[in-house]
Amino acid sequence: MAAVILKNVKKSFPGGVQAVKDISLDIKDGEFVVIVGPSGCGKSTTLRLIAGLEEITAGEIYIGGRLVNNVLPKDRDIAMVFQNYALYPHMSVRENMEFGLRLRKYPVEEIAKRISDAADILGIGDLLDRRPKELSGGQRQRVAVGRAIVRKPAVFLFDEPLSNLDAKLRVQMRVELSRLHTELKTTMIYVTHDQVEAVTLGDRIVVMKDGVVQQVAGPLEIYDKPANRFVAGFIGSPPMNIIAGSVVKAANGATVFACGVLQADAPGVPSGAISLGVRPEDISVRPVDGADSAEFIVDAVEPVGAESYLYLRSGDLRIVSRCDRSAAIQQGTKVAITLSQHKLHFFDGQTGERIICPSV
Ligand SMILES: Nc1ncnc2c1ncn2[C@@H]1O[C@H](COP(=O)(O)OP(=O)(O)OP(=O)(O)O)[C@@H](O)[C@H]1O
Ligand SMILES: [Mg+2]
Repeated sequence: MAAVILKNVKKSFPGGVQAVKDISLDIKDGEFVVIVGPSGCGKSTTLRLIAGLEEITAGEIYIGGRLVNNVLPKDRDIAMVFQNYALYPHMSVRENMEFGLRLRKYPVEEIAKRISDAADILGIGDLLDRRPKELSGGQRQRVAVGRAIVRKPAVFLFDEPLSNLDAKLRVQMRVELSRLHTELKTTMIYVTHDQVEAVTLGDRIVVMKDGVVQQVAGPLEIYDKPANRFVAGFIGSPPMNIIAGSVVKAANGATVFACGVLQADAPGVPSGAISLGVRPEDISVRPVDGADSAEFIVDAVEPVGAESYLYLRSGDLRIVSRCDRSAAIQQGTKVAITLSQHKLHFFDGQTGERIICPSV
């Protein structure tokens, strides 16, 4: 077990790509941290720098209090699980799992014990004599994790280990990985581009974009208080509605956000170009009763089990609301909306940074 610390880590590749711009992270011993972000944002590079598979351009990396900048991958006490599992095709499951331990010259009895313990934890005891090609995707995935577990590393590094699995199996393996972390209590750093995976697995989440960390926080905090417009739009499905408008002082002295027909109280928000963020579940709809100034047309209704997503439009303004299926709203009807005042997010129109004000 070990803490992992990154101090001002940078990575440039020949040709000028700055994959990691200036990352500092403080990952606690035993923590499950998920690094999430769009394709190409530098997630795998960050993980590979921690593993020692890439050399850092600047900065420092500590594992378990030890500066590892110049320590070889094999001596960093980490085990990595890759997306493609990277199992040796000509070896049995048992041989695949034993391989690293044999290289390190562990005693035969110790190897046997570790394989049997890992096989129990992962439920793969009856697969030990098979070759990888005789396994399903999920089973191969378990073997790849097993090969990491037997090493008893101080830190597990996972690079999109579930992305080759079908949706149902992914959910199942997610639960297994959570259970594994509870059982082993080893530090885990997990990379994914799937925000659902991130929020369900991580004790803490690191959201990255263009080689830069955007926010580091627990899943609920990321959801409730996204640090900027990018994080707000990236975490959550359907994504948060982000509406570019402006904040003005109304005649009665109130501070109001406005964009087209949409208005919202914005107490404490500075005047000027502002983006309003509101999650689909924080918009409720009701039939128009004549007194409503803001009317929206229901463009489409997407039923997803217990709830429905309503795609609403008013002129150029398009928003999504998420409501109970029982609301039974029909496509083509006119509705009025209510925003949950205390769930509104305001972002600076230029920088996209969250505006912190007492009312939000
Ligand atoms: N060996 C390399 N040489 C040059 N550029 C590289 C190299 N490896 C990665 N890059 C570039 O660095 C950037 C970050 O790549 P990285 O693989 O870390 O992204 P990622 O966040 O893991 O993306 P994905 O979700 O697609 O796996 C990309 O622009 C990529 O093209
Ligand atoms: Mg990657």
